[in-house]
Amino acid sequence: MADTTDYFPVPMKQLILDSDISFNLFLYLQLNNKMLQVMKKGDLMTKKRLDDLFNKNIHVVFILKSDKEEFYKYKAKSFSAVILDEKCSQEKKIEQIKVYTKETIQGLSEVTNLEESVQIMENCSGVTKQIVSDVANKGFAKAFDDITKMIKTGSGLMVHSANVSSLSVIFGMLMNIIEPKELEDLAMGGLLHDLGLSKCDGAIVEKYLKNEHNMPEAEWSAFVEHPMYAMEMLKSRSSTLSKNVLDIVFQHHENFDGTGFPRRIKNMQINYLAKIVRIANDFDIVYRELAAQQKYDQMSNILLFLKNGIIQDNKLREEDMGGKAPKTMYDGRILEELIKNIVPVKEGAGTDALVSGNSNKIAA
Ligand SMILES: [Fe+2]
Ligand SMILES: [Fe+2]
Repeated sequence: MADTTDYFPVPMKQLILDSDISFNLFLYLQLNNKMLQVMKKGDLMTKKRLDDLFNKNIHVVFILKSDKEEFYKYKAKSFSAVILDEKCSQEKKIEQIKVYTKETIQGLSEVTNLEESVQIMENCSGVTKQIVSDVANKGFAKAFDDITKMIKTGSGLMVHSANVSSLSVIFGMLMNIIEPKELEDLAMGGLLHDLGLSKCDGAIVEKYLKNEHNMPEAEWSAFVEHPMYAMEMLKSRSSTLSKNVLDIVFQHHENFDGTGFPRRIKNMQINYLAKIVRIANDFDIVYRELAAQQKYDQMSNILLFLKNGIIQDNKLREEDMGGKAPKTMYDGRILEELIKNIVPVKEGAGTDALVSGNSNKIAA
């Protein structure tokens, strides 16, 4: 009997045509609960092989968890090859990077259970930290792991920071940002944005991550200080962080209309990268809230919710606000562009018995 917890699922669309795979590839046979190896490390993924699998109505394949890092490197290689290609024009690079990015994030709209929702984010993190390592900062993958461990071992804050880091890179690439240094700033800023929360009481952090903003006044005043706490910690410890990273950390709760904190700055006063991290931050909080409530079908609408003011202060606004105008928290142009690029893909999701029958058994 196959121990399915040793494997993780990968959507077929994530496999790269005409390139060698650097891991063994398996199919799950539901009938006899077995993993069947269909390709091995070093095999070339040809069009015929891909077509054969698609023709069998297979949309998800499996990779051993011990090959996870190899898979992330394999995925990141396609991004970094384009970003670093000196012969390719900027427009072409952006066009290609967007194709890869959409493939990476498409799985978000196909989630059907909690394990998958965690797995998708983990995969996004694995790939984006490797991209930044490849194109900008060789040691970033290790720094990423060290910092997430340091943020609070095993805590929700660690997962949130990793998710915000990778979503910021993904959203940044969809907004045409492919400059290595800016990608690194997004990744690093996303990772460090809530560092100041480590100075706050655990109960406050928990409320923030669970989206409970009805804190007593004393807790709220401590909470709104966290961008400042983080700045103090970072400035005293490191002189190597860029202005972009410091802006991200300090401005990630500022609202577009000047109703945010700590400085109530607005629109053009907010660093563009901080605006992207703000969207990534709220996306992750709502994403995990929807997953906890098993509202998987709403996940592909998160950006729309943000744009339409259906989410206020990270909460899904289920009741009408009694005529109160919603706050404009985000830069609408960024949200519109992201929505245009992230098209929910429902095709094949959950319809394949082989896939849906198995996905419940794969532990994240
Ligand atoms: Fe924060
Ligand atoms: Fe956050």
